[in-house]
Amino acid sequence: MKFFIDTADIEEIRKLAETGLVDGVTTNPSLILKSGGDIIETTREICSIIDGPVSAEVTATEYDEMVKEGHKLAEIADNVAIKVPLTIDGIRACKTFSDEGLMVNVTLCFSPAQAILAAKAGAAFISPFVGRLDDIGHDGMGLIEDIGDIYTNYDFDTEILVASVRHIPHLLDAARLGADVVTAPPNVFWQMFKHPLTDKGLDAFLADWAKTGQSII
Ligand code: G3P
Repeated sequence: MKFFIDTADIEEIRKLAETGLVDGVTTNPSLILKSGGDIIETTREICSIIDGPVSAEVTATEYDEMVKEGHKLAEIADNVAIKVPLTIDGIRACKTFSDEGLMVNVTLCFSPAQAILAAKAGAAFISPFVGRLDDIGHDGMGLIEDIGDIYTNYDFDTEILVASVRHIPHLLDAARLGADVVTAPPNVFWQMFKHPLTDKGLDAFLADWAKTGQSII
């Protein structure tokens, strides 16, 4: 299971990268806005910190402009994954980019039918948004299961990148289903480390250790 971080906050990415567990980063126009940075410079900086795929999203909605924007984003670094929305123009652009050997992440996926289109268009990643489906009373994780079954039936290479992750149960459900990648906001990643019994146990060990009067170094 690969961990991507869903943020464009450079300092946060730097801290998370120090764990050695970050396999990639996903950004989107809303996250760029939140970071306050320029998309090109921010993407360049993230790519210098993270070796794995860094998704940067086109903002054009029409094919020709999307292709121009995608090429500009792909020039930033070899590990840029061009993010395109799941629209007719987006899927067309995905096919063009993947035929050129460029890495594409198709975003805003909310149905198995859409996921089939992305795989047929050669996407490296499909991003189903589980949290936003749950928000409207649908079954986000059911979508991950359906896409997994369909992709297995046809041996599609497209990786399922579970997005719009809001909490640890999302991440665990994705892991149980064998999703290839989960992109989570930094707070969810940090929460994975936490358990009250770990803190309590460590406090007890340290208290006893202090009583021994020893030191390892
Ligand atoms: O990167 C796309 C996705 O993860 C967005 O999540 O929380 O805005 O639904 P959210």
